[in-house]
Amino acid sequence: MTLKRGRFITLEGGEGVGKSTNLQFVTDWLDSRGVAYLQTREPGGTPLAEELRELLLSNREEAVDPTAELLMVFAARAQHLARVIEPALARGEWVICDRFTDATYAYQGGGRQLDRALIAQLEQTVQGSLRPDRVLLLDLDPRTGLQRAASTGAADRFESEQLAFFQRVRAAYLERAESAPERYAVIDAARPLEQVQQRLGDELEKLFDD
Ligand code: TMP
Repeated sequence: MTLKRGRFITLEGGEGVGKSTNLQFVTDWLDSRGVAYLQTREPGGTPLAEELRELLLSNREEAVDPTAELLMVFAARAQHLARVIEPALARGEWVICDRFTDATYAYQGGGRQLDRALIAQLEQTVQGSLRPDRVLLLDLDPRTGLQRAASTGAADRFESEQLAFFQRVRAAYLERAESAPERYAVIDAARPLEQVQQRLGDELEKLFDD
């Protein structure tokens, strides 16, 4: 008998949408159902990829070229996929990833305004046919998100961007969701937490029953 591959679920959204709290809800839910899973994040998830994360997020004097940023994101992703994500899925574990390639379309494509076709090309090269089974997208007006995020410590290189950048990020996420509605759950993160989590629970239930 061949082992059933695990499910690959990603959690996405702009700044201040409540990703951490809701990630905890997702892993608690999986624990309660006895699902074997691996929780990880991007950029990061392996020692090398975490080093690349540090390089990507740290504030620096030198202006970072958007294409250099894009290639670093995909370098980290290639390592993460080969060393962590693919082996876990092959073992039959679910993988819960805090951000993945939709964040690249949103931040580098939307935010930095890089060519989507270039991102798609790198996606194909690095991932082959691998895509998340379900993207849980927490959607929120960035004006609200930035207010929420402002209270959580010093801003990194992305968090230091202006409102217009985050408006493009949000629009790019929503565009992705509209282009493949069967893979995305767009969740209104402005609603009370219980309602957000009710929706997350419903989504997980569907994946579990499949
Ligand atoms: P976070 O994990 O705390 O949300 O921070 C990760 C930051 O990295 C966030 O600002 C979004 C950014 N990012 C990209 O710009 N491109 C990507 O592909 C990923 C995964 C993250």
